Amino acid sequence: MTPDDLMFKPGLMTGERILITGGGTGLGKEMAEACLILGATVYICGRRGGVLDETAAKLMAAHGGKVVGMACDIRVPEAIHDMLDLIWADGGALTGLINNAAGNFISRTEDLSPRAFDAIANIVFRGSFFVTLDCGKRWIAEGKKASVISILTTWVWSGGPFTVPSAMSKAGLNVMTQSLAAEWGPKGIRLNAIAPGPFPTEGAWARLSPGQSTDSSSSVNSIPMGRVGRMPELGNLAVYLLHPMSEYVTGQTIGIDGGAWNAGGGNFAALSGWTDQQWTDARAMIQGANEKDRSKRTV
Ligand code: HXC
Ligand code: NAP
Repeated sequence: MTPDDLMFKPGLMTGERILITGGGTGLGKEMAEACLILGATVYICGRRGGVLDETAAKLMAAHGGKVVGMACDIRVPEAIHDMLDLIWADGGALTGLINNAAGNFISRTEDLSPRAFDAIANIVFRGSFFVTLDCGKRWIAEGKKASVISILTTWVWSGGPFTVPSAMSKAGLNVMTQSLAAEWGPKGIRLNAIAPGPFPTEGAWARLSPGQSTDSSSSVNSIPMGRVGRMPELGNLAVYLLHPMSEYVTGQTIGIDGGAWNAGGGNFAALSGWTDQQWTDARAMIQGANEKDRSKRTV
């Protein structure tokens, strides 16, 4: 991403301090880059310390500024608290939070175990809430204004067949956004959400389109705009929602999906035609990707 990809004036985010969960990879990394280019100090967290360090180093080499990787498992409330203590000690309150970390995989719902449900819900539903809660307590105690964005999916409107734990968890965050916008609005804390359509990332494709490369354009025919999302498009929307000049916008969930869900698409309903063998093969590929990533975790 370059400054020319962004629609905002240079330095727009100077003085802003943003935490992006899951910011070491994929969409989180792209939003981190957009904030950094515009002058924000950026904190990124995840469970793979090496991935975070590499991303932070690459982004700072490309754009200067400050990106700090914090190894933290957001399933653990005490770990979140410790991470936020370190961030607050490193220059004061955050001004923005992006709840972006997630876990997901396609599966027939009847094939899920309780552990499989928890593996997703504990990251997306509980983890995102705990990060928001711990930040919120600090902002309220200090009388600070702040902006929270949660990265959802259009399944919060359409439902998410074959991704039910994710769709349920994201729907919970959608209601968190609406509820806390009203409850914390008088304290100057805004909450909005972004519901992206397909933006090809390795993490999502390995678990939702196993065996297909992120370059594959097999599903774009069902997207009215005829293409997948471009990363700076998401970066621009996130910066808009984070910035104090959008203060009157709160409690909103904004889709960025090329019109896919309005055209009846955007979820995995078409997988109802899959055979048992296709599900077995997909699960083996997904679990291979899970294992590969798990081996790099440092927390
Ligand atoms: C059924 C599965 C499964 C599968 C795992 N499980 N994969 N069940 N089908 N394909 C089951 C396991 O058998 C186990 O249950 C349980 O889930 C936990 O598995 P673990 O591998 O031990 O989990 P864990 O190490 O906690 O890893 C969590 C994870 C993993 C969610 C499974 O994928 C992860 O860490 N993901 C993070 C990154 C990610 O998912 N990114 C994609 C986001 S994309 P049993 O009972 O057998 O022990 C996204 C896009 C949305 O959200 C929108 C797109 C348009
Ligand atoms: P991704 O690269 O796999 O991103 C997920 C990130 O979450 C990883 O960096 C992962 O890092 C982190 N994470 C997972 N569990 C965590 C935990 N317990 N604690 C801390 N961090 C954790 O996939 P992505 O496609 O960029 O997805 C990013 C977000 O966009 C997700 O919320 C996803 O649902 C949403 N989304 C994506 C698309 C798309 O098309 N790509 C569409 C709609 C919505 P570690 O494994 O190192 O912890």
